Amino acid sequence: MVKSKILIVEFGGQYTHLISRRLRDLGVFPELAPYDSVTEQSLVDCAGIILSGGPRSVGLDDNYPLPPVLVDVLHSSSIPVLGICYGHQLLGDFFGGTVRHSESREYGPTEIEVTRGDGLMQGYQKLRVWMSHSDYVAEVGDGFEVLARSESCPVVAMADQSRGVYGVQFHPEVTHTEHGFEILEYFIRNVCSADSHSWTMEAYRDELVEEMRREIGDDMVLLGVSGGVDSTVAAMVLKEAVGNQLHLVFVNHGLLRKDEEDMVRESMTRQMGFENFHYVDATDLFLDKLRGVEDPEEKRRIIGFTFIEVFEQKARDLQEEFGRFRFLGQGTIYSDRVESGAAGAGTSKIKSHHNLTLPERMELEVIEPLKELYKDEVRELGRVLGAPENLISRYPFPGPGLAVRILGAVDQERLAILKEADAIFMEEIYRSSVHDEIWQAFAVLLPIRAVGVQGDNRTYGQVVALRAVSSSDGMTADFSRVPFELLSRISTRIINEIQDVTRVVYDISPKPPSTIEWE
Ligand code: XMP
Repeated sequence: MVKSKILIVEFGGQYTHLISRRLRDLGVFPELAPYDSVTEQSLVDCAGIILSGGPRSVGLDDNYPLPPVLVDVLHSSSIPVLGICYGHQLLGDFFGGTVRHSESREYGPTEIEVTRGDGLMQGYQKLRVWMSHSDYVAEVGDGFEVLARSESCPVVAMADQSRGVYGVQFHPEVTHTEHGFEILEYFIRNVCSADSHSWTMEAYRDELVEEMRREIGDDMVLLGVSGGVDSTVAAMVLKEAVGNQLHLVFVNHGLLRKDEEDMVRESMTRQMGFENFHYVDATDLFLDKLRGVEDPEEKRRIIGFTFIEVFEQKARDLQEEFGRFRFLGQGTIYSDRVESGAAGAGTSKIKSHHNLTLPERMELEVIEPLKELYKDEVRELGRVLGAPENLISRYPFPGPGLAVRILGAVDQERLAILKEADAIFMEEIYRSSVHDEIWQAFAVLLPIRAVGVQGDNRTYGQVVALRAVSSSDGMTADFSRVPFELLSRISTRIINEIQDVTRVVYDISPKPPSTIEWE
């Protein structure tokens, strides 16, 4: 019988959940289990096992060991296993190879040379792959063959085909690894022979709607919407699950893009027909609380708390009118959780995302229908649910809004400058053919001034940075190659049309090591 599940054992890597995402792309059902909770039950209907990356070092005291159940699997070669990064090193060590610790880290794109091209590496000769490690496998154990190496890493990939055990030092799950998807696909289809129809978005939608219906029962849900893809799709899922038990609240925190509040109100009500739609303009409250605050984490915290405060007040008002609300819906997606360190063992905190910065005392229980999905999957789910395409293809926008794009303190004047600059940038991008190649684009206002000459006068004005990136999930990204003529037109327009801006720069940093937002 064809087995339908691939077990992903988590060792705390930043990209672990991305592996499950790729498996869904392959139509295979992924099951995630932290390394310390893998049981015999985890192996039922299991076509293959993937060991994830992780921040620890094999052989050191605080390492994350192979779960005992997997030791049996490896001894008996009963299920194929692929190790990625830390998982690769665990396998190297387990089968008698040598793992070395290194002080220097290798991050980002690395050129590798394939030394054995059949099987997992499928005839590739040289590949650009995504690395994120300091330890490495220096020698393979008995029965293993080296499949690829790089200048600084002698065993970039290895295999013992007779045991069905494979290891790669790089991250095939990251889109910036050339042919990474095909390498995973080879393991899943050719080595594991997993059922490739065990996961579809339509089936997932049905399950999700059913799960929400079960969880919510007859209670009422209040969902915060922003007009962005995530909260809108969350609203669609919840509406399908519980209909008019769902009430939507759109809080305008004053940190939205130009004219966005009108656009959101229009599209949620007229275009998409949501009935229980409530609008709260809390601009003054938010700006008041943010006055003089420069630290980005502090801004996020204030916005998160104020948001909940406004919500709870609105919930009380609506409660008087409609009865008790039990749940607070949120459009949190998986990458929000991983970057705020809320996803599984050992991932380190990068920043606290707005959606998750909740006060300890909550009057409402949180419900997050999209918490397992990535942005592009949320878009696909939106399409399956019939969301309008103009909404689905909008660029992502962070919950704390322009507060994380104004470096330093936020005030009305700086907001107005950024809104204008961003609107010009967006207008030009939307008009151009590069729009669809870009995953996210926006303007940032820097906390410095720079000299300019305007007319015959020397001025000392604001600096706007433009950011446009290509990505498929926001986890890794590269800067978009926006044509110079277009950048030139945008820069001219921003400087000419916005008084006080004297300089425009374009951000050419990839993620990692940079992030998409500037903060
Ligand atoms: P970074 O800057 O971490 O961004 O590379 C990755 C993606 O997440 C968005 N982002 C946020 N979204 N609250 C959000 O809801 C936040 O605090 C936040 N910070 C970043 C960012 O726009 C990008 O799409």
